Amino acid sequence: MKGEHVPEADARDDKQFHADIPALDHGFFLKGSGSYDWGMKNRLARIFRPESGRTVMLAIDHGYFQGPTTGLERVDLSIVPIAPHADALMLTRGILRSTIPATHRGGIVMRASGGPSILKELSDERVAVDMEDAVRMGVHGVAVQVFVGGEHETQSVENMTKLVDAGYRVGIPVLGVTAVGKELTRDARYLGLATRICAELGAQVVKTYYCDEGFEKVTAGCPVPIVMAGGKKLPELEALEMAYRAVQEGAAGVDMGRNIFQSESPAAMIQAVAKVVHEDAQPAEAYELFQELSGAAVPA
Ligand code: R5P
Repeated sequence: MKGEHVPEADARDDKQFHADIPALDHGFFLKGSGSYDWGMKNRLARIFRPESGRTVMLAIDHGYFQGPTTGLERVDLSIVPIAPHADALMLTRGILRSTIPATHRGGIVMRASGGPSILKELSDERVAVDMEDAVRMGVHGVAVQVFVGGEHETQSVENMTKLVDAGYRVGIPVLGVTAVGKELTRDARYLGLATRICAELGAQVVKTYYCDEGFEKVTAGCPVPIVMAGGKKLPELEALEMAYRAVQEGAAGVDMGRNIFQSESPAAMIQAVAKVVHEDAQPAEAYELFQELSGAAVPA
């Protein structure tokens, strides 16, 4: 019958336009990120929790240059069970495809640089992922190592700027990771230099190490969010104290690896870190949670 599938015209005169209420502008919760397109903001909101403005990212990409790292020998057994506690996983496409269930709901930041192994000059990296594959895998960000002061400094910066350009074409943000060579001091002057260079040249998020003095100057001088790198394994309370100081001094969260997956209880540790990062819990309180969840007796 003629017109059978044509929807009726909506001629009601009681529509609610609320002409007296200005349209809501939701703004955006992340530092320096207000002018990105919707897709990039949406991906950033999958990495950072909008409620706290922070992230607990779990770095498990170590194998891309150092092979089967302690704690990551079997990612299916050690990481997959705790992955739901992470706001985002930082990992290689090899582990993502082979080992992480496609049902995973959290953020994914994919390692996009690589080349040299631990046996060679580490700064000699190249872009190691085509942005088309990052899109295909539905990731929320890509990560690239930047070796400021390193032998292949310019090449590593170019790796980052190439990824930033490619990322803007598809709405994928880039995490610039400030890599510190053995010969470089991790002080506020160096970290301020390296993080600012990453941000100035386009990284939407920067990962860097914590330093005991002047870290608040590093975060203040970086116009985009900084996430704190974990570094070598520390006793759990010390790692929680470092994460606490970092977020109180302006970091938008952490991207920790060994301090979580090499803990005696990775599941307990990642939840304790989240308490510090998202709830501003004191390290002692988070450590109590760690002990409780790991089944250890809480000292009186
Ligand atoms: C940086 O060089 C890589 O992303 C590492 O695999 C990762 O950041 C190391 O994490 P962590 O130092 O916390 O074990």
